[in-house]
Amino acid sequence: MRDPQVLRSLHQARFGAHFGAEPAIFAAPGRVNLIGEHTDYAEGFVMPAAIDFATLAGVSPRADGKVVIYSENYKEERVFEAAALPKTKTGHWSDYPLGVLSVLAGEGLAIPAFSLSIWSDVPLGSGLSSSAAIEVSTALAVLSLIGASYPGPVLARLCQRAENEFVGASSGIMDQFISANGKKDHALLLDCRDLSYKLAPIPADVALVIANTMVKHAVTGGEYTSRRAQVEEAAAVIARHRPEVKFLRDATLDDLERWGGEMSPEALKRARHVISENLRTVAAAEALERGDREELGRLMAEAHWSYSRDFEASCVEADAMVELAQDLPGLIGARLTGGGFGGCTVNLVDAAHAAEFAARLGERYQARFAIRPEIYLCHASEGARKLD
Ligand code: GLA
Repeated sequence: MRDPQVLRSLHQARFGAHFGAEPAIFAAPGRVNLIGEHTDYAEGFVMPAAIDFATLAGVSPRADGKVVIYSENYKEERVFEAAALPKTKTGHWSDYPLGVLSVLAGEGLAIPAFSLSIWSDVPLGSGLSSSAAIEVSTALAVLSLIGASYPGPVLARLCQRAENEFVGASSGIMDQFISANGKKDHALLLDCRDLSYKLAPIPADVALVIANTMVKHAVTGGEYTSRRAQVEEAAAVIARHRPEVKFLRDATLDDLERWGGEMSPEALKRARHVISENLRTVAAAEALERGDREELGRLMAEAHWSYSRDFEASCVEADAMVELAQDLPGLIGARLTGGGFGGCTVNLVDAAHAAEFAARLGERYQARFAIRPEIYLCHASEGARKLD
């Protein structure tokens, strides 16, 4: 596991080398979703955990009226006037921190001049919420400079707005929420309707093995947006008959039996995934709580194939990564995690078998696709915080 103190000193040294100043440093983690996919914007349930990949944001005040944002990963700097920050995106990595500044300014906060240095080890475009980690760490850094703070759920909403309104990705609340509110050694069953949540302990003998198909995923892409539109189309059809249905969270499989014929075939399939996924997610949290690993694994498998066949958000490589894991010793459950169309599978594995599981899964995948997958042994980690 990465030691936060080591990460902190490294980032402090990098910040010093670039800006010649002493920063305050904030960390926000990426996440893995155990179950509950494309349910968040339908006001349903998700069960993610924060992981020990994170973005660090170092910040220090400036006296020259400028906002200078430096990416340690890209070794690239962008300079703006604090009094005239961009109001629209440019398609550059800086859109994520700038989006946060734009939302905070919209909340009536005066954005001061500062230097910000961002470094991240969350794999990019892999469905592990690298963008939420940038947004949340940036927000904490800038708020600390202003002397303001928000409760975790409010912080998550502000960062989601940065993504929706500035970056232009129509994502739900899950990623920013878990990055801001994650708990070490726990997953979190989140009700995306009112943002109430329940912590679900991940037993010490269960490992989170994340397997990267190396197929890139993007929520800014058209597929995510079109799925969301189909989910909303299905809800609107049911609402014609049951006006109390505002989101698929309120709908049942019985509603689909009755009125599914009025939807496009795609909307019907997407709705079947979302409605059944909400049931599975709540059931999975219960199974985790009572230590019923067999049921948990069964629900994860069902979730994967629903995501693949009804939601059509998987890909050949992710389906294979799930299949290749099935008979490996120690597997509890496996499924594609995150926004879909590539990215990573999450595998819950008996910890005693985790290292061997990871090695063998990697070999099998490489033999099939001639692509070497990255496989990460992760832990459920603490949400965003200042590194003192
Ligand atoms: C992306 C989005 C989330 C959520 C997932 C799918 O990660 O950012 O809001 O919709 O996809 O579950």
